Amino acid sequence: MILLNGEVGNYIYSNGKKFSYFAGNNYLGLAGHPEIKKAVIRAVEKYGVNFAASRHTTGTSDLHLELEGALASFKGKEDAVVFASGYQGNSILLEILKGSYSTIFIDQSAHASIIAAIPADVVKVMYYDHCDAGHLDYLLDYNRGSSPLVITDGIFALTGEIAPLNQIYEVVRKHDAILVVDDAHATGVIGATGKGTPEHFGLPGDGKIYQTETMSKALGGYGGFISGSRSVTGLIREKSATYQASTALPPPIAAAGIASLAIIRENPGLRKELLDKAWTIREALTAMDFRTTHFRTPIVPVLFDTAEKANGLSQFLEENRVIAPSVNYPARQQLFLVRIAVSATHTDDQISQLLGLLKQWKDKNESN
Ligand SMILES: Cc1ncc(COP(=O)(O)O)c(C=O)c1O
Repeated sequence: MILLNGEVGNYIYSNGKKFSYFAGNNYLGLAGHPEIKKAVIRAVEKYGVNFAASRHTTGTSDLHLELEGALASFKGKEDAVVFASGYQGNSILLEILKGSYSTIFIDQSAHASIIAAIPADVVKVMYYDHCDAGHLDYLLDYNRGSSPLVITDGIFALTGEIAPLNQIYEVVRKHDAILVVDDAHATGVIGATGKGTPEHFGLPGDGKIYQTETMSKALGGYGGFISGSRSVTGLIREKSATYQASTALPPPIAAAGIASLAIIRENPGLRKELLDKAWTIREALTAMDFRTTHFRTPIVPVLFDTAEKANGLSQFLEENRVIAPSVNYPARQQLFLVRIAVSATHTDDQISQLLGLLKQWKDKNESN
């Protein structure tokens, strides 16, 4: 485990040593942005750290409402609702949509928060092959007559793959299913204006695709949100036990979200910079004969057949003052990989150093 002794940026300090940092999900480099820090400090001074109450009782502030307005405007939706974490978003959505579906179809490699969100009384849960809209279609055909809900990650956290949402959307329409996309890693990252996977594929923003999102990754803050029509956000506020019975997002964190959205709005070039840098690393990995995935996303995995290799590479990088962890995450599909997470603020020197080390390791450990 990496013990952090300061903030995460391009570099971190751990046990008194400085490391180049290619981990976490600080894709736009906003986690330590000076404007966001200032907004947080102002909010702490005015509101304190925490309201110690749920949104539903005495936990809602003008900051929460301002943040929800800013999120709705960012997403081009009527309204948005924020809550304590991105992890809760899938539970909240599946909770309020109950009654509209009886069977859930889940990508085999879905994030743990999706699996945890399955309501206890849903009897039928089916897993379709990873990113395979054809298999999803087959399962939906086979289970005709059920009221289906399909749920997938937008960008997969470990592999950086983008779900084939265009194909999934067609299948979902054919079977009159509900579609939910967990866009935790896509918000602020993909799509012409950073709205995530549906925008990336040019799918209609007509409310037929539900997205669960987080401010804890590209937005550099914390907390989950769902945007949509007022009838959807109203259902969350009125019906979700998770929303109603958990403590509100701390006000300084709400202030961070507002500041972050302003930065994202004013700096649309950040996304391109991020995706270009990540693509440079992917292409270099491929040229070195490493296995990776081929998507314009900031998560660049180095894929291996064994945990030993993945751990070995990660350790070699760490010995050379670069952090890119070999990740072992709860998931149905066993993967051995080193997860390189790129940030828009990584410098060319940092990227060259990383690629140089990868080449050295490859030459030493995998040359034929
Ligand atoms: C796909 C996915 N969904 C949800 C979450 C949870 O989001 P948060 O960490 O903001 O609670 C994560 C992250 O860790 C994730 O990778």
